[in-house]
Amino acid sequence: MAFPSNFVWGAATAAYQIEGSSSVDGRTPSVWDTFAERPGKVYGGHTGEIACDHYRRFKEDVALMKELGLKAYRFSVSWSRILPEGRGKINQKGLDFYVSLVDELLSAGIEPWLTLYHWDMPQCLQREGGWLNPATGDAFAELTRALAVALGDRVTYWMTLNEPQCFVALGHYAGLHAPGLTLGDDDIAKVIHYVLVAHGKSVKALREIGGDRYKIGFVPTTRAIIPATESAEDIEACRDLLFSFNPQPNSMWTFAAFVDPVLLGEYPADYLARFEAHLPARWRDDLPLISQKLDYCGVNLYAGELFESTPDGIRMVTPVPGAPQSALKWPVQPATLRWVPRFMWERYKLPIMIAENGLALSDWVSLDGKVHDPARIDYTWRYLLELEKAIADGAEIAGYFHWSLMDNFEWAEGYKERFGLVHVDFETQKRIPKDSAIWYRRVMETNGASLHDKP
Ligand code: BGC
Repeated sequence: MAFPSNFVWGAATAAYQIEGSSSVDGRTPSVWDTFAERPGKVYGGHTGEIACDHYRRFKEDVALMKELGLKAYRFSVSWSRILPEGRGKINQKGLDFYVSLVDELLSAGIEPWLTLYHWDMPQCLQREGGWLNPATGDAFAELTRALAVALGDRVTYWMTLNEPQCFVALGHYAGLHAPGLTLGDDDIAKVIHYVLVAHGKSVKALREIGGDRYKIGFVPTTRAIIPATESAEDIEACRDLLFSFNPQPNSMWTFAAFVDPVLLGEYPADYLARFEAHLPARWRDDLPLISQKLDYCGVNLYAGELFESTPDGIRMVTPVPGAPQSALKWPVQPATLRWVPRFMWERYKLPIMIAENGLALSDWVSLDGKVHDPARIDYTWRYLLELEKAIADGAEIAGYFHWSLMDNFEWAEGYKERFGLVHVDFETQKRIPKDSAIWYRRVMETNGASLHDKP
């Protein structure tokens, strides 16, 4: 079964990870600027102050995307560039940056996919409670409106939130990401709820402006639970576990707690059994707002773990000693791209968009001046062949965005490892397409047919 002819091929980035220019043209700090300044929070004391200098080099970057054959580009916006006070007065210069970026993309024949929130809450809103403050959702709707008014006739594809699990669990519970909080269950349940309401307000604002012409989704992630074999028992057990209350590594990773309210209009019963008491008063009244119609569901998938069903229950059987892993020590498990999208499709009946997938490596420039990354080619090749199986299984898969277009600021890991198809020298800002970029160009060009060439 081949990739459908309208399959979207692209690559992704996020504002704070690539833009730099963090204090120019009226932008105010986000929680990531503040967090990165705190000693010991980010590897090597790295920050996004310069990053890939994309804010100043976007034309060059779009030209490179065109040369690399990208059909679509997923990027996010910096909230505090557009609304320096978090809400209220629009900073025209900040907004104009995204207008110019979108114009540049369109004239290069690249479809923009705009993510409204990829973790960089304005610090001024954080001071008022950030996601713990229900009013933040209204500010998010303002941000959405500002962008839809400015770009509404040119951007069709919108994504509200990127990986709410990560910014909730890592940012508000584990304290490992901005804003670095370690809240208890009581607050966390409220944070999750307010985040979902913010998503709802954003969708509402988009529909008011763009109606059905807009194609809207959101982008959760999950711990990937993959059947070790194709036996009906293993498949069933993994499907169950994927959508059940998950206390490992902590309950904020319960996939269905984030996705069911949005796509099914209700929190899962096993989540409510533990968290209902902590939800804000009248939380049920918000469910219709949270669950407005979406056109697709995004998902970001990287690592995965194999499980088998046993008479004593489900059991994890990986990683085996010496198993492949990324430079960040994430287990490589290609079948992740077959089973998670398939399970999601079966449960939610919406096209699934792979909004991120990629591999961290310690790439460098070789003596021949090129960047050879055979492991990234092999990884992407294997994952995409598995995605093709999901399509053959009957799942509707809308497209695939590789993470990332270029090496960038990897949050708490700083610039330690590299995820890009394009190598970035952070001293000189020189870009070099890696071997994987050349390989991926052919995959996109042939709509995936080249995946069946001999490796
Ligand atoms: C995030 C990206 C991040 C990538 C690799 C996802 O969690 O959306 O911002 O760089 O995975 O860690």
